[in-house]
Amino acid sequence: MELQAILYSQGFGTRRVCAGLIQQGLVVVQGAVCTDAAQQFEPEGLVFSVQGVTWPYREPAYVMLHKPAGTECSQKPSTWPSIYTLLPAPLRQRPQKGPVQGVQAVGRLDQDTTGLLLLTDDGKFIHRMSSPRHHVPKVYEVTVKHPLDDSQVGRLLAGVVLDDDPRPVAAAACEAVTPLHLRLTLTEGKYHQVKRMVAAVGNRVEGLHRSRIGGLALPDDLLPGQWRWLDAAELALLKP
Ligand code: URA
Repeated sequence: MELQAILYSQGFGTRRVCAGLIQQGLVVVQGAVCTDAAQQFEPEGLVFSVQGVTWPYREPAYVMLHKPAGTECSQKPSTWPSIYTLLPAPLRQRPQKGPVQGVQAVGRLDQDTTGLLLLTDDGKFIHRMSSPRHHVPKVYEVTVKHPLDDSQVGRLLAGVVLDDDPRPVAAAACEAVTPLHLRLTLTEGKYHQVKRMVAAVGNRVEGLHRSRIGGLALPDDLLPGQWRWLDAAELALLKP
């Protein structure tokens, strides 16, 4: 694959911009500056650098982000900064066949929710992970306002009715870790689902953090606001 096409596929700008970066000597491949935009490289496993920034070739891109509080999962946020501003420009600019460019969040977390968020430009993956039919479990650490009792935990497991649907929604797992810390596992992602389920049993969410999706836990060393690539082993943990 031509170097110019490799850079383009990874989000480094239009084909012309990518050719310009290469011709100006700003791209290093396998330890040497390459100024020939048409030079061929095997893209799989290739690591190159553009203006000193090292970049691995990934197609598609799968990343995880530790979403901090006070950020919106929208591309066009209304009040708070967008999570997309936490990602480097190439991830936001990767060319897509559809109308939106770059990686997209796999589902959304509320502005005040923290924790594990996946982003990718693989539309099928987004669909599979978001579909309630696939039952991908998501674990939430919930700080509640009032001490939990057994009946609240029991009702969350048995199912509660939310205002937009007469069919009850139930937690796949639920435990009171401490009187004010609930660990709740859901396999679907309705709007404000955790907050509404907790309200339905007479309590209130004071803090919400997603700690796990499928078999993938948010790594302790990924601090709020940081992102990183998912490796093949981590991706395998997400297969339903
Ligand atoms: N449930 C909520 O209420 N909010 C989130 O951000 C995620 C799940």
